Amino acid sequence: MCEHLEPPGAPLPCIQTASSASPRKRDYRSSLEPPDVLWMRLALALAARGLGRTAPNPPVGCVLVKGGVAVGSGFHAKAGEPHAEVLALREARARAEGATAYVTLEPCSHHGRTPPCADALVAAGIERVVVAVLDPNPLVAGSGVTRLRAAGLEVSWDVLEGEAVRQQAGFRSLIVRGRPWVVYKVAMTLDGKVAALSGASRWVSGAPARALVHRWRNQFDAVAVGSGTILADDPQLGTRDVPGGRDARPVIFDRRGLTPLAARVIRPGSVLVTSSTTSTTAYKRKQVTVIEAENEVEALMALGELGLSTVLLEGGPTLAGALLSAGLIDEVRVFVAPKLLGAGLTPLSAPFATSLDEAHPLRDVRVSGVGQDVLIQGCLHKIPRLEVDAFEPHSA
Ligand SMILES: NC(=O)c1ccc[n+]([C@@H]2O[C@H](COP(=O)([O-])OP(=O)(O)OC[C@H]3O[C@@H](n4cnc5c(N)ncnc54)[C@H](OP(=O)(O)O)[C@@H]3O)[C@@H](O)[C@H]2O)c1
Ligand SMILES: [Zn+2]
Repeated sequence: MCEHLEPPGAPLPCIQTASSASPRKRDYRSSLEPPDVLWMRLALALAARGLGRTAPNPPVGCVLVKGGVAVGSGFHAKAGEPHAEVLALREARARAEGATAYVTLEPCSHHGRTPPCADALVAAGIERVVVAVLDPNPLVAGSGVTRLRAAGLEVSWDVLEGEAVRQQAGFRSLIVRGRPWVVYKVAMTLDGKVAALSGASRWVSGAPARALVHRWRNQFDAVAVGSGTILADDPQLGTRDVPGGRDARPVIFDRRGLTPLAARVIRPGSVLVTSSTTSTTAYKRKQVTVIEAENEVEALMALGELGLSTVLLEGGPTLAGALLSAGLIDEVRVFVAPKLLGAGLTPLSAPFATSLDEAHPLRDVRVSGVGQDVLIQGCLHKIPRLEVDAFEPHSA
């Protein structure tokens, strides 16, 4: 999920300035790209529509192309609903015969809630399958490609692999590590303050940055904050003004049960991460899911068990510092606002490095302008991949 503004997997890198951000400039690079790349971009854009809705399944998009024309397309919209390939085949009907299928993830080969997509592609007479990346799910892990090749289809799996892996960060994290992919988002002033000494933080960043955060929330499974942020700001953590948007599940880290029952995040479906000694009856009565965890690792594994694959951590400094110290933040997205406070809270209150040698370097760093703010994003961890020496990316 690292490296994107929206949709995840969009062409990068990009330096977008306030003046170039609106109206959006046309990207003429794409007209120079090979057809396989163009069609896969379309499949990735379709898959992005499922972000925040498919967990514990991955977001997947599929486009069927025949004679240079798309004859069918689909994306996985929700766990339990048809896979992208099935929807694309349904749309294409007989036109699928002899077509090429572009799929953002290796087609499944096992009977889950739906029959194997690899079999459906074979039965429909697809001749060639272009896959962005192999599936790390041990139930698939290359067997989808093997099955397609055994049936005589030409298969390759390395088109826009990096973009696909980023888009599937949450799914990959859940399958391989059992916990969600955690992205720490914070807004700070040019002198590194996230709130005034009084605790006031409305608003550090500008309206365009805040609107972008709402669009991110729409693509995440969960949005997390500590009790300190709730007591200071009583955030709603919703996705206002996002067309077709839905709220991510609020997750409240609160070991002492300080969150008032009247807080805006206390609503059905919210998750409270607390300690075993805290009284939780009143929260449960409000249909809040309660997790009792001894430490941060246990807490994140429990969120994984709930099927949450991506968490947008929205603060504040105490919780973010604790999660970073525990090695549980995978990606950061920092808005830097062109204003100075002089005094205030800093983004991470737990000191974890005593010298510059111990600093945590970010990888895949991207810098862009959002309104008057600068957005710096990068990853602390690698997105889990499947090591597949045994599989050639292209059919012999
Ligand atoms: N500019 C921004 O982007 C931004 C974003 C968010 C917040 N803020 C500002 O940050 C300030 C609040 O800071 P804060 O540090 O008090 O907020 P916080 O990190 O959201 O909440 C801190 C509380 O989280 C609880 N917590 C639960 N589990 C924890 C764990 N495993 N490790 C650490 N803490 C855990 C702790 O209470 P227990 O010990 O009782 O569990 C702790 O007191 C406010 O002024 C807010 O406006 C700014
Ligand atoms: Zn499938």
